[in-house]
Amino acid sequence: MSPSLKIVIFLLLLTYYTCSLASSVDNTSESFFKLCPPTRCSNSGPIIRYPFRLNTQPTFCGREGYELSCSADNTVFPLLFSGHYYVKEIYYPNNWISLTEIPKKNSTNCPIQTLSSFNSSGPILEEPDSNLAIANCSERIVEMEGIYGPIDCLTDGGGNGSWVYVMDTSYRMDRLPLQCSISDHVKFARVILGVQEIVERLLREGEIIVNYRVDYGCLECERAGRYCGFNTTSNKTICSSPKPKTKLIDQTEILSLVLDYSLLIQRNELDS
Ligand SMILES: *[C@@H]1O[C@H](CO)[C@@H](O)[C@H](O)[C@H]1NC(C)=O
Ligand SMILES: *[C@@H]1O[C@H](CO)[C@@H](O)[C@H](O)[C@H]1NC(C)=O
Ligand SMILES: *[C@@H]1O[C@H](CO)[C@@H](O)[C@H](O)[C@H]1NC(C)=O
Ligand SMILES: *[C@@H]1O[C@H](CO)[C@@H](O)[C@H](O)[C@H]1NC(C)=O
Ligand SMILES: *[C@@H]1O[C@H](CO)[C@@H](O)[C@H](O)[C@H]1NC(C)=O
Ligand SMILES: *[C@@H]1O[C@H](CO)[C@@H](O)[C@H](O)[C@H]1NC(C)=O
Ligand SMILES: *[C@@H]1O[C@H](CO)[C@@H](O)[C@H](O)[C@H]1NC(C)=O
Repeated sequence: MSPSLKIVIFLLLLTYYTCSLASSVDNTSESFFKLCPPTRCSNSGPIIRYPFRLNTQPTFCGREGYELSCSADNTVFPLLFSGHYYVKEIYYPNNWISLTEIPKKNSTNCPIQTLSSFNSSGPILEEPDSNLAIANCSERIVEMEGIYGPIDCLTDGGGNGSWVYVMDTSYRMDRLPLQCSISDHVKFARVILGVQEIVERLLREGEIIVNYRVDYGCLECERAGRYCGFNTTSNKTICSSPKPKTKLIDQTEILSLVLDYSLLIQRNELDS
């Protein structure tokens, strides 16, 4: 074979190979994870993937209503009844999301009050079903497990003898000192983080943690360390193969193919 014929054969093979790679992209689960790669608004922002999607991704990448957007470096989630919130974290294996209010110009800096304007109603978030009691005490109380505070922004400096705490209601209420009375309850989601962590995040930054709805198959998939997705053709939840990887094979494989062939051609030329 003449060297030029070999080059022609090589180019034909290369074209064939490239085309077969392109046509192998169909709507199988691999194509879902290729068409809907995990994304984020900034390096410190939460990873966005199914059931969520970024508004710049195709609609089939996420469930209806689970659409996030970016505002500068922030991830924004629209709530049906209480406006837009920033997303701080999404934890896929246990389907919780943490949200903070978008800072307003005149906001009083009292993070726990974000709960009072938060309304999770709608098809996406589960209603929080646990209670935190707001305890109003006439004097400062000693630290106790399950009682957090005092919450400075609700405590009027003790001027009128009012110190405010939050209490996990799964503890016996008679542990509350006599000089305290429950003035209110707020709802929270008892997610896997544990109450102390949940309350600390709430008091620190007004972070509200809540479960989002997702089917059980999807959770099982995520808990196995895989990514959940959706096949719009079959209308079924799908699960990525054990390690979802952003594949670079297309270029590297072709490159190694080129190297193999050029070596082969060189060797043949030496032989002849
Ligand atoms: C894959 O599915 C999406 C959504 O159903 C569709 O828009 C797209 O054309 C499909 N691609 C192929 C190659 O069939
Ligand atoms: C997606 O659905 C189509 C049509 O039912 C099917 O041919 C394909 O194998 C499915 N892909 C996966 C990964 O389940
Ligand atoms: C913010 O507070 C200032 C002074 O307290 C007031 O004049 C202004 O109208 C407030 N702005 C908004 C958006 O509430
Ligand atoms: C949330 O808003 C909806 C619609 O306004 C209302 O029906 C519902 O009672 C509200 N839920 C809470 C907990 O405030
Ligand atoms: C706590 O009690 C005092 C005195 O009754 C009252 O002035 C204050 O508003 C209460 N604080 C809260 C947060 O309920
Ligand atoms: C104490 O409470 C009274 C009546 O509730 C109120 O008028 C007064 O302003 C309060 N004082 C302080 C320092 O909060
Ligand atoms: C997809 O499946 C759900 C129930 O699993 C059903 O309610 C819905 O109508 C189906 N959608 C389509 C387009 O078949």
